[in-house]
This record gives sequence, C-alpha cells and structure tokens, in this order.
Amino acid sequence: MIKYDLSTSDQVQHAIGVLKEYLLFHSKQEFKISSQLEARIKKTINLAESKITTKATNQLSTTKEEYFRNINSPFNLFSDSRKSIRNYSEEDIPIESIKSALNIVLNTPSACNRQTSRAYIFKNKNQIKEIIDIQGGAGGFGYLANKLVVITAELGVFGGAHERYQAYIDGGIFAMNMLYALHANSIACCILNCSNAPGKDKRLHKICEIDRNEVFIAMISCGYPTDNFSIATSHRYELNRICHIK
Ligand SMILES: Cc1cc2nc3c(=O)[nH]c(=O)nc-3n(C[C@H](O)[C@H](O)[C@H](O)COP(=O)(O)O)c2cc1C
Repeated sequence: MIKYDLSTSDQVQHAIGVLKEYLLFHSKQEFKISSQLEARIKKTINLAESKITTKATNQLSTTKEEYFRNINSPFNLFSDSRKSIRNYSEEDIPIESIKSALNIVLNTPSACNRQTSRAYIFKNKNQIKEIIDIQGGAGGFGYLANKLVVITAELGVFGGAHERYQAYIDGGIFAMNMLYALHANSIACCILNCSNAPGKDKRLHKICEIDRNEVFIAMISCGYPTDNFSIATSHRYELNRICHIK
C-alpha cells in the first residue's frame, strides 16, 4: 500500500503549497475568505509545517498568445500546453466555435461504437450561474464562463448491470477529447465534476432540463482568456510512480 506521508510525498507537499498560495492570493486581492475556512487551512498548514517546511506554489503567469502558442505543435507539446483555465474575459464565444470543437469530438472512440455521449451548450449567463451554483466546485470563477458545456451519457443502449461503468468510461474519453478540441480552437476551459449525491443530481437534471435516462459525466466552463492571466500549477507524478512493467 502507498503511504501519502508528508515528508516523502511531493504530492502532499504540493497540496500544502497550494493552500499557502490560496491564502496569499486572497490576501493580495484583499478578499476576505470565511474565518472558518481560513482557520481550517491554517490548521492544516501548521500541522504540515511541524513536519516539513513547504513553499507556497506559484501560479503561472501567462498571456493569451503564449498559452495558445502550441495549438498547432506536435501532440506532446500540444497536450502539455492544455491546462485548466479559471479566468475568462467577457468576449462572446460564437456557438459555432463550440460546435466546431464538438464536430472534432465526434471521432471519440466508444465501446461497440455506441456513441452514448451527449453535449449540451448553455449560453444564458443566469442559467450557467444556477448550474454552477449546484455543481459547487467553481465558486470563484464559474460565473465568468461565457459558455458551459454539460456532458452526459445516454444509458438506454447498455445491455445489463455488467456494463454499469461503460457510460462513465466512454463519457470520460469524450470529455478529454473535448478539452483538447476546445484548446485547439483557442477556447480556454476547465472541466468540472458531476459526481453528485442523488439530491443534487435530481436538481441538476431539472435545471438543465435533461432526461433521467442520461447520467452526468462532467461539465466544462468555457471562455476566451483575458490578455494576461494566471494558471494554477497541478503537480504530476514521475513516470515510474504510475508505470509498471509486468
Ligand atoms: C472529472 C474532473 C472534475 C474536475 N472538477 C473540477 C472542479 O469541480 N473544479 C475545478 O476547479 N477543477 C476541477 N477539475 C480540474 C482539475 O483540478 C485539474 O484537471 C487538475 O488539477 C489538473 O490540472 P490541469 O487540468 O491544469 O492539467 C476537474 C478535473 C476532472 C478531470
């Protein structure tokens, strides 16, 4: 079993660094976060600091040109240049640009080629806010999204309980392809989870007006970036941590 020990895990150390950056960022913006949240973060940092000193992680400052510099580069550079962007300008994304990305995503592989993934493009700001409020993981930036793409999977084509994960597997592949397609179309985005408890799930179905025979896979907030913006750094494992030759 892998132990996520603070003194040895670079991932845990990175997480503590992110918490430090979170406090610093809000204090620089003179934005008061709830005292309860601040206390919990500080408690976690102090606990960590009793074992090891970590530095606040820096967000990556970039420009729109720099961020999309590799969209026509070989796949390794293209793939590496995609990041979750949580800061959008007010510029409108034409629906046609999102549809053009989806047109690429039609090539997504799926089990038995059943193509169960569906995409709903929301363009009304109030409706986007309502959906994002229920989603709950984009409080600080979701309201800036110019478009929101909700990805679902249709369950009707599956043949039995043994296929219970297939919609999510196919949907996940579809969602990743969509992130790349949006990136290729110079649209900044952030994928948002839809792993909801039943109550939230029902509310989302209702507010999105999506039939109950479809399950939520994820949603993607989209926008054009501002001229200058910051990107959250998300630490990755080394290859030998995840790759095992048997
Ligand atoms: C299924 C899924 C759900 C996610 N949900 C959220 C979310 O609710 N809020 C958020 O800010 N980021 C969310 N993310 C983005 C991850 O935090 C991000 O992909 C990860 O830190 C790696 O960073 P990168 O996308 O910049 O490479 C989600 C990512 C995935 C794949």
